[in-house]
Amino acid sequence: MGSCLRRSAQSLAAAELHAKRAPIMKPNTTPPKTYRVKSFGCQMNVYDGERMAELLAEKGITEAPEGEDADLVVLNTCHIREKAAEKIYSDIGRLTKGKTQKKAPMIAVAGCVAQAEGEEIMARAPAVSMVVGPQAYHRLPDMLDKAVQGQRVTDTDMPAIAKFDSLPQRKRRSPTAFLTVQEGCDKFCTYCVVPYTRGAEISRPFNHLIAEAHKLVEAGAREITLLGQNVNAWAGEDDAGRAIGLAGLIKALAKVDGLERIRYTTSHPNDMDDALIAAHGEVDKLMPYLHLPVQSGNDRVLKAMNRSHTAESYLRLLERFREARPDIALSGDFIVGFPGETEAEFEDTLKIVDEVRYSQAFSFKYSPRPGTPAASMDGQIAKDVMDDRLQRLQERLNRDQYAFNKALVGKTCGVLIERKGKHAGQWLGKSPWLTSVWFAEENGGEAAIGDLVTLELAEAGPNSLRGVVREVVSA
Ligand code: 5AD
Ligand code: SF4
Repeated sequence: MGSCLRRSAQSLAAAELHAKRAPIMKPNTTPPKTYRVKSFGCQMNVYDGERMAELLAEKGITEAPEGEDADLVVLNTCHIREKAAEKIYSDIGRLTKGKTQKKAPMIAVAGCVAQAEGEEIMARAPAVSMVVGPQAYHRLPDMLDKAVQGQRVTDTDMPAIAKFDSLPQRKRRSPTAFLTVQEGCDKFCTYCVVPYTRGAEISRPFNHLIAEAHKLVEAGAREITLLGQNVNAWAGEDDAGRAIGLAGLIKALAKVDGLERIRYTTSHPNDMDDALIAAHGEVDKLMPYLHLPVQSGNDRVLKAMNRSHTAESYLRLLERFREARPDIALSGDFIVGFPGETEAEFEDTLKIVDEVRYSQAFSFKYSPRPGTPAASMDGQIAKDVMDDRLQRLQERLNRDQYAFNKALVGKTCGVLIERKGKHAGQWLGKSPWLTSVWFAEENGGEAAIGDLVTLELAEAGPNSLRGVVREVVSA
């Protein structure tokens, strides 16, 4: 059972034992013809969800049409904040409510809650056929064979050999695609569940990644976002056997014809190297955007979080990125209300926001995750204090995002068309700085999804910009 890498996930499960029971049902065992994968949480879950969909498609199961019930539902869960586990039981309740065993879908629970609480899910939700962890989902087809024979199967192994080798070729058609290059985390920030649910840091081999990128481009991808919990910790060897880091991988990917844009997320300040900073000034295809979580602007809190950087060292690092690429858009993550955080310490977080001027950011109230060190720390912060801090932080972040958007007005840039906009007659895409940009269809001539267009940015809103087409660069 891969126990060596399990890192006490079991203790997390035990800590969240609840009395509430789901209705007693046996799982549906009818071989499914259609599936739906519902992914929650981070972009890596979106990637994993796509790969599970590809595995099911190989078995001849097709995606259920929008609005129709699926025969098999995969709940691809996130455990990072809040009551994710409780949400699963209510989702399962909704899927099975008022239905007979034959009418309810077959249900698989995947993702990080499956990893942390697999046994508990099987005990509490009898309608669930399969529980599969993030490192084991390549075995979903075998698990499905067993499920149709009436077995209930759990696989939360974390094998050292990556699952990626056993996944089918990429076929997904979309102008933007995710590519997982690194998984897992060895940082053990004291609030975070990821090192327990995703396991130790591993890097996928260089040649596998280049091959997968080629497949994605053949299937229509023009932008690839490299994913990893600590993506900048990626390490490998190029074709000549030379040791390279993420910058080397990005440079090799930049040589792939047809691939126009490269992004990466999420980075850790301590894994940054000179080559990656320099790459932002050297590689045209590398977009001017960096997501670098800081979590807090106060050094005592950062230490208690086990972040191993200070506010000052973080700011110095960003300065170096700005030197390499002056127009780089900066993004970050924040947690308010970490145990023991005082008002003055929180104000240091507001200060760092004022210094950096993020183009966009993600901010969260601290959520105790069972089994993590911070969950049992003294000084847990009251909800109303956290609410107030989050609101004050978000006011500043929103102010800066709007200001960033306004400063782009008048600039001309490439936008990759991703989809139709919210309103009829609009196209929507992303600027190099990852801001959403829309433009009127009538303005774009023959432009279509997957085209790169040159737009003049004409008007800024808090969350997006309106552009006017100057040129359809490539179709
Ligand atoms: N509570 C609140 N936010 C958290 N994050 C991770 N763990 C927690 C937690 N226990 C946030 C961090 C991280 C992002 C992905 O989620 O900001 O960078
Ligand atoms: Fe969690 Fe910290 Fe690892 Fe990020 S670096 S995944 S916050 S433990």
